[in-house]
Amino acid sequence: MTDGSTITPVLVVDDDPSMRAALRQWMGLAGFHPIETETANEAISRITPDFPGCVVSDVMLQGEDGLKLMQRIGVVDSEIPVILITGHGDVPMAVDAMRLGAYDFVEKPFDPDRIAEVVQRAIEKRQLVLENRALQKSLKDSSTLESRLLGNSPVMKTLRERLLHFAKTDAAVLITGETGTGKEVIAQALHAFSKRKDKPFVAVNAAALAESMVEAELFGHEAGAFTGADRTRAGRIEQADGGVFFLDEIVSMPISLQPKLLRVLQEKEVDRIGGRRPVPVDIRLVSAANEDPRKAVTDQRLREDLLFRLNTIEIIVPPLRERGNDVQLLFDTFLNRFSAQYEMERPLLSGQDEAFLRTYEWPGNVRELRNAAERFVLNAGVGGQPLATLVAGRGGEPQGAGDGTLRELMDAYEKTVIDNALKRHQGRINLVMEELGLPRRTLNEKMARHGLSRSQAGVEETVD
Ligand SMILES: Nc1ncnc2c1ncn2[C@@H]1O[C@H](COP(=O)(O)OP(=O)(O)OP(=O)(O)O)[C@@H](O)[C@H]1O
Ligand SMILES: [Mg+2]
Repeated sequence: MTDGSTITPVLVVDDDPSMRAALRQWMGLAGFHPIETETANEAISRITPDFPGCVVSDVMLQGEDGLKLMQRIGVVDSEIPVILITGHGDVPMAVDAMRLGAYDFVEKPFDPDRIAEVVQRAIEKRQLVLENRALQKSLKDSSTLESRLLGNSPVMKTLRERLLHFAKTDAAVLITGETGTGKEVIAQALHAFSKRKDKPFVAVNAAALAESMVEAELFGHEAGAFTGADRTRAGRIEQADGGVFFLDEIVSMPISLQPKLLRVLQEKEVDRIGGRRPVPVDIRLVSAANEDPRKAVTDQRLREDLLFRLNTIEIIVPPLRERGNDVQLLFDTFLNRFSAQYEMERPLLSGQDEAFLRTYEWPGNVRELRNAAERFVLNAGVGGQPLATLVAGRGGEPQGAGDGTLRELMDAYEKTVIDNALKRHQGRINLVMEELGLPRRTLNEKMARHGLSRSQAGVEETVD
Protein backbone atom coordinates (compact mmCIF):
# COMPACT_ATOMS: atom_id res chain seq x y z
CA MET A 1 0.00 0.00 0.00
CA THR A 2 1.25 3.48 -0.83
CA ASP A 3 1.15 6.57 1.25
CA GLY A 4 -1.81 8.57 -0.09
CA SER A 5 -0.33 11.95 0.68
CA THR A 6 2.90 11.55 -1.26
CA ILE A 7 3.27 8.93 -3.93
CA THR A 8 -0.19 7.74 -4.90
CA PRO A 9 -0.45 7.82 -8.69
CA VAL A 10 -3.20 9.67 -10.48
CA LEU A 11 -3.60 8.65 -14.08
CA VAL A 12 -4.46 11.71 -16.15
CA VAL A 13 -6.00 11.01 -19.57
CA ASP A 14 -6.54 13.94 -21.92
CA ASP A 15 -5.70 14.53 -25.55
CA ASP A 16 -5.37 18.26 -25.04
CA PRO A 17 -1.72 19.01 -24.08
CA SER A 18 -2.52 22.21 -22.21
CA MET A 19 -5.21 20.48 -20.13
CA ARG A 20 -2.80 17.64 -19.33
CA ALA A 21 -0.14 20.11 -18.26
CA ALA A 22 -2.61 21.93 -16.01
CA LEU A 23 -3.86 18.69 -14.46
CA ARG A 24 -0.30 17.49 -13.93
CA GLN A 25 0.56 20.67 -12.12
CA TRP A 26 -2.49 20.59 -9.87
CA MET A 27 -2.13 16.94 -9.03
CA GLY A 28 1.54 17.45 -8.26
CA LEU A 29 0.73 20.39 -6.01
CA ALA A 30 -1.92 18.38 -4.20
CA GLY A 31 0.78 15.79 -3.37
CA PHE A 32 -0.06 13.04 -5.89
CA HIS A 33 2.10 11.47 -8.52
CA PRO A 34 0.53 12.40 -11.89
CA ILE A 35 0.98 10.00 -14.81
CA GLU A 36 0.09 11.70 -18.10
CA THR A 37 -1.44 9.74 -20.94
CA GLU A 38 -2.95 10.94 -24.20
CA THR A 39 -5.09 8.07 -25.44
CA ALA A 40 -7.37 5.41 -23.99
CA ASN A 41 -4.99 2.65 -25.12
CA GLU A 42 -2.06 4.30 -23.46
CA ALA A 43 -4.08 4.70 -20.28
CA ILE A 44 -5.19 1.06 -20.27
CA SER A 45 -1.59 -0.09 -20.57
CA ARG A 46 -0.84 1.65 -17.25
CA ILE A 47 -3.71 0.02 -15.35
CA THR A 48 -3.21 -3.16 -13.31
CA PRO A 49 -5.62 -4.85 -10.90
CA ASP A 50 -3.69 -3.53 -7.91
CA PHE A 51 -3.34 0.03 -9.26
CA PRO A 52 -3.28 2.03 -6.03
CA GLY A 53 -4.60 5.37 -7.30
CA CYS A 54 -7.43 6.77 -9.41
CA VAL A 55 -8.04 7.95 -12.96
CA VAL A 56 -8.98 11.45 -14.13
CA SER A 57 -10.12 11.41 -17.75
CA ASP A 58 -11.77 13.76 -20.19
CA VAL A 59 -14.99 12.28 -21.59
CA MET A 60 -14.04 13.48 -25.06
CA LEU A 61 -10.92 11.67 -26.19
CA GLN A 62 -9.69 11.19 -29.73
CA GLY A 63 -10.61 7.78 -31.04
CA GLU A 64 -12.52 6.64 -27.99
CA ASP A 65 -14.66 8.36 -25.43
CA GLY A 66 -14.01 8.49 -21.74
CA LEU A 67 -17.07 6.35 -20.93
CA LYS A 68 -15.68 3.47 -23.00
CA LEU A 69 -12.32 3.88 -21.34
CA MET A 70 -14.03 3.67 -17.98
CA GLN A 71 -15.64 0.39 -18.98
CA ARG A 72 -12.31 -1.03 -20.14
CA ILE A 73 -10.72 -0.05 -16.82
CA GLY A 74 -13.64 -1.81 -15.12
CA VAL A 75 -12.65 -5.03 -16.85
CA VAL A 76 -9.18 -4.86 -15.30
CA ASP A 77 -10.47 -3.90 -11.86
CA SER A 78 -14.01 -2.64 -11.35
CA GLU A 79 -13.05 -0.84 -8.16
CA ILE A 80 -10.58 1.68 -9.60
CA PRO A 81 -12.27 5.08 -9.20
CA VAL A 82 -12.64 7.03 -12.45
CA ILE A 83 -13.36 10.75 -12.35
CA LEU A 84 -14.64 12.17 -15.62
CA ILE A 85 -14.25 15.70 -16.89
CA THR A 86 -17.32 16.82 -18.82
CA GLY A 87 -18.05 19.86 -20.92
CA HIS A 88 -19.85 22.71 -19.22
CA GLY A 89 -23.57 22.09 -18.96
CA ASP A 90 -23.38 18.57 -20.40
CA VAL A 91 -25.84 17.18 -17.90
CA PRO A 92 -27.03 14.10 -19.85
CA MET A 93 -23.42 13.02 -20.29
CA ALA A 94 -22.71 13.45 -16.57
CA VAL A 95 -25.80 11.44 -15.68
CA ASP A 96 -24.73 8.69 -18.03
CA ALA A 97 -21.25 8.67 -16.54
CA MET A 98 -22.56 8.25 -13.02
CA ARG A 99 -24.98 5.55 -14.13
CA LEU A 100 -22.11 3.62 -15.72
CA GLY A 101 -20.15 3.69 -12.50
CA ALA A 102 -17.99 6.81 -12.65
CA TYR A 103 -16.75 7.77 -9.20
CA ASP A 104 -17.61 11.42 -9.84
CA PHE A 105 -17.50 14.06 -12.55
CA VAL A 106 -16.13 17.53 -12.72
CA GLU A 107 -17.44 20.18 -15.07
CA LYS A 108 -15.20 22.34 -17.22
CA PRO A 109 -13.93 24.89 -16.56
CA PHE A 110 -13.06 23.60 -13.16
CA ASP A 111 -11.67 24.76 -9.94
CA PRO A 112 -8.32 23.12 -9.01
CA ASP A 113 -9.29 22.83 -5.35
CA ARG A 114 -12.48 21.04 -6.20
CA ILE A 115 -10.71 18.44 -8.37
CA ALA A 116 -7.99 17.89 -5.76
CA GLU A 117 -10.68 17.25 -3.19
CA VAL A 118 -12.55 14.75 -5.39
CA VAL A 119 -9.28 12.93 -6.18
CA GLN A 120 -8.37 12.79 -2.49
CA ARG A 121 -11.69 11.17 -1.62
CA ALA A 122 -11.42 8.71 -4.53
CA ILE A 123 -7.96 7.68 -3.39
CA GLU A 124 -9.05 7.14 0.19
CA LYS A 125 -11.82 4.91 -1.08
CA ARG A 126 -9.39 3.01 -3.30
CA GLN A 127 -7.01 2.40 -0.43
CA LEU A 128 -9.80 1.03 1.72
CA VAL A 129 -10.71 -1.38 -1.07
CA LEU A 130 -7.10 -2.57 -1.38
CA GLU A 131 -6.62 -2.91 2.37
CA ASN A 132 -9.78 -4.93 2.59
CA ARG A 133 -8.65 -7.19 -0.22
CA ALA A 134 -5.28 -7.78 1.43
CA LEU A 135 -7.05 -8.63 4.66
CA GLN A 136 -9.42 -11.06 2.97
CA LYS A 137 -6.52 -12.70 1.21
CA SER A 138 -4.46 -13.16 4.35
CA LEU A 139 -7.52 -14.54 6.17
CA LYS A 140 -8.07 -16.99 3.35
CA ASP A 141 -4.41 -18.02 3.31
CA SER A 142 -4.25 -18.63 7.02
CA SER A 143 -7.53 -20.52 7.06
CA THR A 144 -6.30 -22.97 4.46
CA LEU A 145 -3.05 -23.22 6.39
CA GLU A 146 -5.17 -24.03 9.44
CA SER A 147 -6.65 -27.04 7.72
CA ARG A 148 -3.20 -28.31 6.70
CA LEU A 149 -1.57 -27.59 10.02
CA LEU A 150 -4.32 -28.23 12.53
CA GLY A 151 -4.22 -27.01 16.10
CA ASN A 152 -5.67 -24.25 18.26
CA SER A 153 -2.99 -24.24 20.94
CA PRO A 154 -1.11 -20.94 21.27
CA VAL A 155 2.12 -22.61 20.06
CA MET A 156 0.47 -23.77 16.85
CA LYS A 157 -1.21 -20.44 16.24
CA THR A 158 2.11 -18.66 16.59
CA LEU A 159 3.79 -21.24 14.42
CA ARG A 160 1.24 -20.66 11.63
CA GLU A 161 1.66 -16.89 11.84
CA ARG A 162 5.44 -17.12 11.68
CA LEU A 163 5.20 -19.59 8.82
CA LEU A 164 3.06 -17.26 6.68
CA HIS A 165 5.45 -14.43 7.44
CA PHE A 166 8.58 -16.42 6.56
CA ALA A 167 6.97 -17.89 3.44
CA LYS A 168 7.28 -14.45 1.85
CA THR A 169 11.07 -14.49 2.09
CA ASP A 170 13.79 -16.57 0.45
CA ALA A 171 15.85 -17.09 3.61
CA ALA A 172 16.95 -20.66 4.40
CA VAL A 173 14.73 -22.41 6.95
CA LEU A 174 15.69 -25.24 9.28
CA ILE A 175 12.76 -27.10 10.81
CA THR A 176 13.49 -29.18 13.89
CA GLY A 177 11.15 -31.42 15.83
CA GLU A 178 10.52 -35.02 16.85
CA THR A 179 9.33 -37.58 14.36
CA GLY A 180 5.76 -37.10 13.14
CA THR A 181 5.39 -33.52 14.38
CA GLY A 182 4.64 -32.11 10.92
CA LYS A 183 8.02 -30.94 9.59
CA GLU A 184 7.20 -31.97 6.04
CA VAL A 185 3.76 -30.35 6.24
CA ILE A 186 5.51 -27.12 7.25
CA ALA A 187 8.08 -27.38 4.44
CA GLN A 188 5.27 -27.82 1.92
CA ALA A 189 3.35 -24.89 3.36
CA LEU A 190 6.45 -22.68 3.08
CA HIS A 191 6.30 -23.47 -0.63
CA ALA A 192 2.52 -23.29 -1.08
CA PHE A 193 2.23 -19.87 0.55
CA SER A 194 5.20 -18.30 -1.23
CA LYS A 195 5.73 -16.63 -4.56
CA ARG A 196 7.52 -19.82 -5.64
CA LYS A 197 4.31 -21.85 -5.36
CA ASP A 198 3.99 -22.42 -9.12
CA LYS A 199 7.57 -23.65 -9.32
CA PRO A 200 8.72 -27.10 -8.16
CA PHE A 201 8.84 -28.42 -4.61
CA VAL A 202 11.53 -31.11 -4.59
CA ALA A 203 12.02 -33.20 -1.45
CA VAL A 204 15.00 -35.45 -0.78
CA ASN A 205 15.52 -37.48 2.36
CA ALA A 206 19.25 -37.64 2.99
CA ALA A 207 18.81 -40.66 5.28
CA ALA A 208 16.91 -42.65 2.66
CA LEU A 209 19.71 -42.55 0.07
CA ALA A 210 22.72 -44.83 0.03
CA GLU A 211 25.76 -42.70 0.80
CA SER A 212 27.30 -43.48 -2.59
CA MET A 213 24.17 -42.18 -4.34
CA VAL A 214 23.79 -38.87 -2.55
CA GLU A 215 26.21 -36.84 -4.65
CA ALA A 216 24.84 -37.87 -8.06
CA GLU A 217 21.26 -37.59 -6.86
CA LEU A 218 21.61 -34.11 -5.42
CA PHE A 219 24.13 -32.49 -7.71
CA GLY A 220 23.64 -34.42 -10.98
CA HIS A 221 26.32 -35.57 -13.37
CA GLU A 222 27.64 -35.16 -16.90
CA ALA A 223 27.64 -38.03 -19.38
CA GLY A 224 30.64 -40.27 -18.77
CA ALA A 225 31.39 -38.77 -15.36
CA PHE A 226 31.49 -42.27 -13.87
CA THR A 227 30.70 -45.83 -14.92
CA GLY A 228 27.02 -46.05 -15.66
CA ALA A 229 26.57 -42.31 -16.20
CA ASP A 230 25.69 -42.68 -19.86
CA ARG A 231 23.65 -39.49 -20.05
CA THR A 232 23.92 -36.08 -18.49
CA ARG A 233 21.44 -35.77 -15.67
CA ALA A 234 20.40 -32.72 -13.68
CA GLY A 235 20.47 -33.33 -9.95
CA ARG A 236 17.51 -32.85 -7.63
CA ILE A 237 18.76 -29.41 -6.58
CA GLU A 238 18.72 -28.24 -10.19
CA GLN A 239 15.26 -29.74 -10.65
CA ALA A 240 14.04 -27.44 -7.90
CA ASP A 241 15.21 -24.33 -9.81
CA GLY A 242 12.90 -21.41 -9.13
CA GLY A 243 11.17 -23.35 -6.36
CA VAL A 244 11.85 -24.94 -2.99
CA PHE A 245 14.37 -27.68 -2.29
CA PHE A 246 13.50 -29.62 0.86
CA LEU A 247 16.38 -31.57 2.34
CA ASP A 248 14.98 -33.88 4.99
CA GLU A 249 17.11 -35.43 7.75
CA ILE A 250 19.94 -33.05 7.00
CA VAL A 251 22.12 -34.58 9.71
CA SER A 252 22.36 -37.76 7.60
CA MET A 253 23.98 -35.83 4.77
CA PRO A 254 27.50 -37.30 4.36
CA ILE A 255 29.98 -34.93 5.95
CA SER A 256 32.22 -35.13 2.86
CA LEU A 257 29.44 -33.62 0.73
CA GLN A 258 28.47 -30.87 3.12
CA PRO A 259 30.97 -28.32 1.68
CA LYS A 260 29.46 -28.91 -1.75
CA LEU A 261 25.99 -28.12 -0.42
CA LEU A 262 27.37 -25.06 1.32
CA ARG A 263 28.70 -23.87 -2.04
CA VAL A 264 25.22 -24.14 -3.55
CA LEU A 265 23.92 -21.85 -0.83
CA GLN A 266 26.75 -19.37 -1.00
CA GLU A 267 27.34 -19.17 -4.73
CA LYS A 268 23.87 -20.16 -5.97
CA GLU A 269 25.53 -22.64 -8.32
CA VAL A 270 25.58 -26.42 -8.59
CA ASP A 271 28.67 -28.41 -9.60
CA ARG A 272 27.54 -31.51 -11.46
CA ILE A 273 29.88 -34.49 -11.13
CA GLY A 274 32.27 -34.24 -14.08
CA GLY A 275 30.88 -30.83 -15.05
CA ARG A 276 33.20 -28.23 -16.58
CA ARG A 277 31.41 -25.19 -15.20
CA PRO A 278 28.88 -24.66 -12.45
CA VAL A 279 25.18 -24.37 -13.28
CA PRO A 280 23.37 -21.39 -11.75
CA VAL A 281 20.38 -22.29 -9.58
CA ASP A 282 17.78 -20.25 -7.78
CA ILE A 283 16.36 -22.30 -4.91
CA ARG A 284 14.98 -21.69 -1.49
CA LEU A 285 16.46 -24.30 0.82
CA VAL A 286 14.30 -25.76 3.55
CA SER A 287 15.88 -28.48 5.67
CA ALA A 288 14.65 -30.61 8.54
CA ALA A 289 16.14 -32.53 11.43
CA ASN A 290 14.51 -34.70 14.06
CA GLU A 291 17.43 -34.35 16.42
CA ASP A 292 19.26 -31.38 17.86
CA PRO A 293 21.48 -30.06 15.04
CA ARG A 294 23.85 -28.42 17.53
CA LYS A 295 24.56 -31.77 19.07
CA ALA A 296 25.29 -33.11 15.58
CA VAL A 297 27.82 -30.29 15.18
CA THR A 298 29.47 -31.29 18.47
CA ASP A 299 29.53 -34.90 17.31
CA GLN A 300 31.12 -33.74 14.04
CA ARG A 301 28.32 -35.09 11.90
CA LEU A 302 27.21 -31.63 10.77
CA ARG A 303 29.55 -28.83 9.76
CA GLU A 304 29.08 -25.70 11.76
CA ASP A 305 29.48 -23.41 8.73
CA LEU A 306 26.70 -25.34 6.98
CA LEU A 307 24.42 -25.09 10.01
CA PHE A 308 24.88 -21.31 10.03
CA ARG A 309 23.71 -21.20 6.43
CA LEU A 310 20.78 -23.56 6.99
CA ASN A 311 19.23 -21.94 10.01
CA THR A 312 18.80 -18.33 8.99
CA ILE A 313 15.27 -19.03 10.16
CA GLU A 314 14.68 -21.86 12.61
CA ILE A 315 11.25 -23.33 13.18
CA ILE A 316 11.00 -25.56 16.22
CA VAL A 317 7.95 -27.80 16.07
CA PRO A 318 6.71 -28.80 19.52
CA PRO A 319 5.83 -32.43 20.24
CA LEU A 320 2.12 -33.24 20.36
CA ARG A 321 2.21 -33.80 24.15
CA GLU A 322 3.02 -30.10 24.57
CA ARG A 323 0.04 -28.90 22.56
CA GLY A 324 -2.67 -29.33 25.19
CA ASN A 325 -6.14 -29.93 23.82
CA ASP A 326 -4.87 -30.12 20.26
CA VAL A 327 -4.81 -33.90 20.72
CA GLN A 328 -8.60 -34.01 20.98
CA LEU A 329 -9.08 -31.51 18.17
CA LEU A 330 -6.74 -33.40 15.83
CA PHE A 331 -8.24 -36.79 16.69
CA ASP A 332 -11.71 -35.44 16.10
CA THR A 333 -10.78 -33.96 12.74
CA PHE A 334 -9.02 -37.15 11.65
CA LEU A 335 -12.08 -39.22 12.66
CA ASN A 336 -14.26 -36.99 10.47
CA ARG A 337 -11.85 -37.18 7.57
CA PHE A 338 -11.40 -40.96 7.71
CA SER A 339 -15.10 -41.69 8.22
CA ALA A 340 -15.80 -39.61 5.12
CA GLN A 341 -12.97 -41.24 3.19
CA TYR A 342 -14.03 -44.81 4.01
CA GLU A 343 -17.73 -43.94 3.93
CA MET A 344 -18.13 -45.35 7.41
CA GLU A 345 -20.08 -44.13 10.39
CA ARG A 346 -18.09 -41.89 12.67
CA PRO A 347 -17.33 -43.99 15.79
CA LEU A 348 -18.04 -42.74 19.31
CA LEU A 349 -15.35 -42.61 21.96
CA SER A 350 -15.89 -44.35 25.29
CA GLY A 351 -14.81 -42.71 28.53
CA GLN A 352 -11.81 -45.03 28.51
CA ASP A 353 -10.86 -43.91 24.99
CA GLU A 354 -11.10 -40.27 26.01
CA ALA A 355 -8.92 -40.90 29.03
CA PHE A 356 -6.38 -42.67 26.86
CA LEU A 357 -6.30 -39.76 24.39
CA ARG A 358 -5.55 -37.39 27.26
CA THR A 359 -2.92 -39.43 29.07
CA TYR A 360 -0.98 -41.16 26.34
CA GLU A 361 2.19 -39.33 25.37
CA TRP A 362 2.06 -39.95 21.63
CA PRO A 363 5.79 -40.53 21.03
CA GLY A 364 5.06 -40.83 17.29
CA ASN A 365 3.25 -37.46 17.50
CA VAL A 366 0.67 -36.48 14.87
CA ARG A 367 1.56 -39.38 12.59
CA GLU A 368 0.80 -41.87 15.37
CA LEU A 369 -2.42 -40.07 16.30
CA ARG A 370 -3.54 -40.00 12.69
CA ASN A 371 -2.86 -43.72 12.25
CA ALA A 372 -4.74 -44.45 15.47
CA ALA A 373 -7.75 -42.49 14.20
CA GLU A 374 -7.69 -44.38 10.92
CA ARG A 375 -7.64 -47.76 12.70
CA PHE A 376 -10.35 -46.59 15.09
CA VAL A 377 -12.66 -45.79 12.17
CA LEU A 378 -11.87 -49.01 10.32
CA ASN A 379 -12.32 -51.21 13.42
CA ALA A 380 -15.56 -49.61 14.54
CA GLY A 381 -17.48 -51.48 11.86
CA VAL A 382 -16.26 -54.87 13.11
CA GLY A 383 -17.07 -54.74 16.78
CA GLY A 384 -14.74 -51.90 17.65
CA GLN A 385 -11.79 -51.98 19.97
CA PRO A 386 -10.64 -49.61 22.67
CA LEU A 387 -8.29 -46.98 21.31
CA ALA A 388 -5.61 -48.12 23.75
CA THR A 389 -5.64 -51.59 22.22
CA LEU A 390 -5.36 -50.23 18.71
CA VAL A 391 -2.39 -48.07 19.62
CA ALA A 392 -0.68 -50.74 21.73
CA GLY A 393 -1.44 -53.41 19.15
CA ARG A 394 0.99 -51.72 16.82
CA GLY A 395 3.84 -52.09 19.27
CA GLY A 396 3.40 -48.44 20.27
CA GLU A 397 4.62 -48.70 23.85
CA PRO A 398 2.55 -46.30 25.91
CA GLN A 399 5.56 -44.35 27.13
CA GLY A 400 5.02 -42.44 30.32
CA ALA A 401 1.63 -44.03 30.89
CA GLY A 402 1.09 -45.02 34.52
CA ASP A 403 0.63 -48.58 35.85
CA GLY A 404 -3.12 -48.26 35.69
CA THR A 405 -2.98 -47.50 32.00
CA LEU A 406 -0.63 -50.39 31.30
CA ARG A 407 -2.98 -52.68 33.19
CA GLU A 408 -5.90 -51.36 31.18
CA LEU A 409 -3.99 -52.02 28.01
CA MET A 410 -3.12 -55.57 29.05
CA ASP A 411 -6.69 -56.24 30.12
CA ALA A 412 -8.12 -54.95 26.91
CA TYR A 413 -5.65 -57.00 24.94
CA GLU A 414 -6.43 -60.18 26.90
CA LYS A 415 -10.14 -59.66 26.38
CA THR A 416 -9.67 -59.29 22.62
CA VAL A 417 -7.54 -62.44 22.40
CA ILE A 418 -10.06 -64.58 24.31
CA ASP A 419 -13.02 -63.09 22.48
CA ASN A 420 -11.42 -63.80 19.11
CA ALA A 421 -10.56 -67.38 20.11
CA LEU A 422 -14.14 -67.98 21.28
CA LYS A 423 -15.46 -66.72 17.96
CA ARG A 424 -12.98 -68.75 15.96
CA HIS A 425 -14.00 -71.97 17.75
CA GLN A 426 -17.69 -71.04 17.89
CA GLY A 427 -17.64 -71.16 21.69
CA ARG A 428 -16.11 -74.64 21.99
CA ILE A 429 -14.33 -74.21 25.29
CA ASN A 430 -12.01 -77.20 24.93
CA LEU A 431 -10.55 -75.86 21.73
CA VAL A 432 -10.10 -72.38 23.22
CA MET A 433 -8.37 -73.88 26.29
CA GLU A 434 -6.07 -75.80 24.04
CA GLU A 435 -5.23 -72.89 21.75
CA LEU A 436 -4.54 -70.46 24.57
CA GLY A 437 -2.90 -73.02 26.84
CA LEU A 438 -5.20 -72.17 29.75
CA PRO A 439 -6.76 -74.49 32.35
CA ARG A 440 -10.58 -74.47 32.31
CA ARG A 441 -10.86 -72.67 35.61
CA THR A 442 -8.54 -69.82 34.62
CA LEU A 443 -10.36 -69.39 31.33
CA ASN A 444 -13.72 -69.27 33.08
CA GLU A 445 -12.45 -66.67 35.52
CA LYS A 446 -11.07 -64.50 32.78
CA MET A 447 -14.24 -64.78 30.71
CA ALA A 448 -16.33 -63.76 33.69
CA ARG A 449 -14.06 -60.81 34.45
CA HIS A 450 -14.26 -59.56 30.89
CA GLY A 451 -17.97 -60.23 30.62
CA LEU A 452 -17.50 -62.77 27.85
CA SER A 453 -19.77 -65.74 27.28
CA ARG A 454 -20.00 -68.59 24.86
CA SER A 455 -23.40 -67.40 23.67
CA GLN A 456 -21.78 -64.22 22.33
CA ALA A 457 -19.59 -66.49 20.26
CA GLY A 458 -22.66 -68.04 18.71
CA VAL A 459 -23.27 -71.00 21.06
CA GLU A 460 -26.28 -71.37 23.36
CA GLU A 461 -24.79 -73.53 26.16
CA THR A 462 -23.38 -71.86 29.24
CA VAL A 463 -19.85 -72.43 30.45
CA ASP A 464 -19.67 -75.29 32.85
N1 LIG B 1 -0.71 -30.04 12.59
C1 LIG B 1 -1.08 -31.03 11.75
N2 LIG B 1 -2.33 -31.06 11.26
C2 LIG B 1 -2.73 -32.06 10.44
N3 LIG B 1 -1.94 -33.06 10.06
C3 LIG B 1 -0.67 -33.08 10.51
C4 LIG B 1 -0.18 -32.06 11.36
N4 LIG B 1 1.10 -32.35 11.66
C5 LIG B 1 1.40 -33.49 11.02
N5 LIG B 1 0.33 -33.94 10.33
C6 LIG B 1 0.25 -35.22 9.60
O1 LIG B 1 1.03 -36.16 10.33
C7 LIG B 1 1.83 -36.96 9.48
C8 LIG B 1 3.29 -36.76 9.79
O2 LIG B 1 3.68 -35.45 9.43
P1 LIG B 1 5.09 -35.15 8.73
O3 LIG B 1 5.42 -36.18 7.72
O4 LIG B 1 5.09 -33.73 8.29
O5 LIG B 1 6.03 -35.31 10.00
P2 LIG B 1 7.61 -35.15 10.12
O6 LIG B 1 7.87 -34.21 11.23
O7 LIG B 1 8.18 -34.82 8.78
O8 LIG B 1 8.05 -36.62 10.58
P3 LIG B 1 9.47 -37.41 10.36
O9 LIG B 1 10.48 -36.73 11.23
O10 LIG B 1 9.17 -38.78 10.84
O11 LIG B 1 9.79 -37.33 8.92
C9 LIG B 1 1.43 -36.58 8.09
O12 LIG B 1 0.39 -37.46 7.67
C10 LIG B 1 0.88 -35.18 8.24
O13 LIG B 1 -0.04 -34.89 7.24
MG1 LIG C 1 9.43 -35.92 7.58
